[in-house]
Amino acid sequence: MLKPQIKLSAKKEIYVPGDKSISHRSVLFSALAQGKSEIHGFLEGEDPLHTLNCFASLGLSVESLGKGSYSVQSPGKQNLKSPAGVLDFGNAGTGIRLSAGLLAGLPQITATLTGDASLCKRPMARIMNPLREMGADIISVEGNDRAPLRIVGKQLKRYSYTSPIASAQIKSALVLAALASEISIDYKEPEVSRDHTENMIRFLGGNIKHHSPLHFTVEPPYHFEGAKFVIPGDISSAAFYIVFGLCAGGTEPLLIRNIGLNPSRVGIITVLRNMGGKIEVTAKRQECGEEIGDLLVYPSKLNRSVITEDLIPSIIDEIPILTVAGLFSEGGFQISHAEELRAKESDRIQSMVSNLERLGVTVKESKDGYEFGEVKEIKPCAIETFMDHRIAMSFAILSKLSGVELTFDDTSWVDTSFPGFFEILKSF
Ligand code: S3P
Repeated sequence: MLKPQIKLSAKKEIYVPGDKSISHRSVLFSALAQGKSEIHGFLEGEDPLHTLNCFASLGLSVESLGKGSYSVQSPGKQNLKSPAGVLDFGNAGTGIRLSAGLLAGLPQITATLTGDASLCKRPMARIMNPLREMGADIISVEGNDRAPLRIVGKQLKRYSYTSPIASAQIKSALVLAALASEISIDYKEPEVSRDHTENMIRFLGGNIKHHSPLHFTVEPPYHFEGAKFVIPGDISSAAFYIVFGLCAGGTEPLLIRNIGLNPSRVGIITVLRNMGGKIEVTAKRQECGEEIGDLLVYPSKLNRSVITEDLIPSIIDEIPILTVAGLFSEGGFQISHAEELRAKESDRIQSMVSNLERLGVTVKESKDGYEFGEVKEIKPCAIETFMDHRIAMSFAILSKLSGVELTFDDTSWVDTSFPGFFEILKSF
């Protein structure tokens, strides 16, 4: 296993920016609600800012109060209006898929939704097909099941769906379509995916009934009023520094404050603990229906451990940085059952395998994952980031921990989810 060149020899605490998933949803639910909302802890990264700008052009009044706080006034969902131009969601799959659902259910709206080159390669049939079954008019402009998407909003009809994929984006797109059209939806998924949308419905006083952890129904009325959304730090961003703190040498813990600990997102903690990592959760509390806490991360000796299929949805965004933990682990690393990685900001199986090979690691790729044995050394090389923030951040953490010089084609993608990432890294 690789030996860390960084030692944690003094106590240190850091904060990471607001949760990306909850930031997108705070905009969408502020738009659905009538009147004034306040958002605090908003991730001022490019992804949620695109969603905020798109909804401003649909009629939301947005005033920045500084430092991630916003005052947002909605005319009510029935008074949102068609935008003058194309809605640009940048790199954000969550932004475009969830917004597509919401807009498809508003009969007064006609809109075209697009994004950057990476987003326009990502699959959209997964939301378009069930939305059409609800009565939506949604087409792929180029006829390839990819963005740009053209939506003519409709009054949709009540719907029951069993998703073949454990995806919070599919789930949320359909639920938001139902909320927009004031109809009920019954939803089943194969594994639990993140449930921030369900939590927000409950937080706003909506009617959601769980029949099992994998099956729920949401029913009208959905007459939400503006609310105060307080967003915790993003565990998917904290993950980079959790792995950093565990794999660094030394004895002192790293304190990562104010992190969202929604049970459907904490797989990273479970997996790293299974690998031998010492992570303590302190100061547990609740905000807007979400669990929050501080994390104390101790330098630890890590070992390879089996990652079971049921954990995949809750670590789906953390697999690149978990792979870095695998480079510092006795016995190496294996991930499987993770075919969904091929539909992320890049094909993350291919992005990780090709960069690991550049580092001199012998990797075995499969259709749903990859595997390598214990790694003794890596060599300096040029990392290709594939327009993917999490690929860039994972290898930047690796370079800092290992002391091996890595160059990057472009790290600007990091700003989509974690502005300030490099400033924190430089502080060690
Ligand atoms: C997200 C859901 C996940 C995740 C993405 C954010 C969300 O995608 O990868 O970064 O906010 O709903 P899938 O639901 O498609 O797995």
